[in-house]
Amino acid sequence: MKIKLGVIFGGESVEHEVSVISAVQAMESIDEERYDIIPIYISKERIWYTGAMLRDMDVYKNFDDLKRYAKEVVLTKKGDKYYLQSTKGMFRKDVTDIDIAFPIVHGNNVEDGSIQGYLESTGIPYVGSHVLGAALGQDKVLMKQVFESNDIPVVPYTWFYDYEYEENNSSILDKISKLKYPVVVKPATLGSSVGITYVKNDSDIKDAIKEAIKYDNKIVVEKAVSNLVEVNCSVLGNYKHQECSALEEVLSDNELLTYADKYIGGSKGKLKGRMNSSKGMASTSRIIPARIDKKVEEKIKDISTRAFKALNLSGVCRIDFLIDGKTKDVYINEPNTIPGSLAFYLWEPVGKGYKELLSDMINIAIKDYKEKHKKTYSFDTNILSNFNGLKGSKGKLKR
Ligand SMILES: Nc1ncnc2c1ncn2[C@@H]1O[C@H](COP(=O)(O)OP(=O)(O)O)[C@@H](O)[C@H]1O
Ligand SMILES: [Mg+2]
Repeated sequence: MKIKLGVIFGGESVEHEVSVISAVQAMESIDEERYDIIPIYISKERIWYTGAMLRDMDVYKNFDDLKRYAKEVVLTKKGDKYYLQSTKGMFRKDVTDIDIAFPIVHGNNVEDGSIQGYLESTGIPYVGSHVLGAALGQDKVLMKQVFESNDIPVVPYTWFYDYEYEENNSSILDKISKLKYPVVVKPATLGSSVGITYVKNDSDIKDAIKEAIKYDNKIVVEKAVSNLVEVNCSVLGNYKHQECSALEEVLSDNELLTYADKYIGGSKGKLKGRMNSSKGMASTSRIIPARIDKKVEEKIKDISTRAFKALNLSGVCRIDFLIDGKTKDVYINEPNTIPGSLAFYLWEPVGKGYKELLSDMINIAIKDYKEKHKKTYSFDTNILSNFNGLKGSKGKLKR
């Protein structure tokens, strides 16, 4: 019997479109002899849809058609099984059951642990990192704090909340100048370079902070790495086992990799692509393998597996690095717990095709789920039958 795989994508995030591309691309490569693919699209209005047509990129060009032909659904549990139920009409009809969910979502409100929390509380097995790892992977401040405590090198940084800046910007601006310009200002929990500014000197810092505050209430300012070389490494595994992909070097025409560099294809390098060619992250200008010496490569692979373990990640992750090309200093930049295009193009050079990568990810999820359910998470007690209401001392809960 085939496993019914619910591929979840879209969502209310600045990376909505990127997620659609990543998911449509993955659905083309999933092994259909082993898995029945059930596309589940979350619109920007957070409504869930299903229907075979959602596998076709063209559907997303006309949202009215999509709404007309796809079915609005919710995920629910009945007995031991999970169903997508239609929300239209008098009675909720089961559209299909699903065995396992595969979130291919990027960014806030989905990739950051939100979708994982929803799936976790429903009880359905799902592919990829779990709530905590996904949440840490989205917060550029908390991830650094975890990395620092695991001796993983991060760039010098400072962070603050928007209201702190609005109340007393001079002490924050002081801290920033201590980092020494140039710096990079970022909203702490966004992705795809949205709201990020490279700041050369203090005359532009206020505008950059203003821009970042548009997107987030938590802001991080980092010292800019000079002679920047950007190298990424993908890790596949779980808390026990990890393997590393080939390393890529990503190229940009700008001081920082922009949204356009990532998804619309830069002008440097040979691998150019366009958003509408469904290449997603696979369209960034890149060189594989990265042009770095063996020592740096080993360092990056070592840090990648340590970071993967420190955040307790699962499935596939892409870990991004910033390297000073002159001093060869290596800093971890960020993990992408659901990377664009699931970083499949980094696995092909080490002999793992996309189909195999996807099957590996699903197998890891099933293994993780089985292992987790061997542990004791709840036990039967008669606490509620002895509970005498909220009044009086008997009703007080001792924890
Ligand atoms: N400290 C830094 N020094 C130099 N360039 C940086 C630094 N941080 C980020 N960048 C540039 O900005 C890009 C986007 O930053 P990143 O932290 O990866 O944000 P996002 O989550 O949006 O991808 C990076 O790919 C890199 O080109
Ligand atoms: Mg990045």
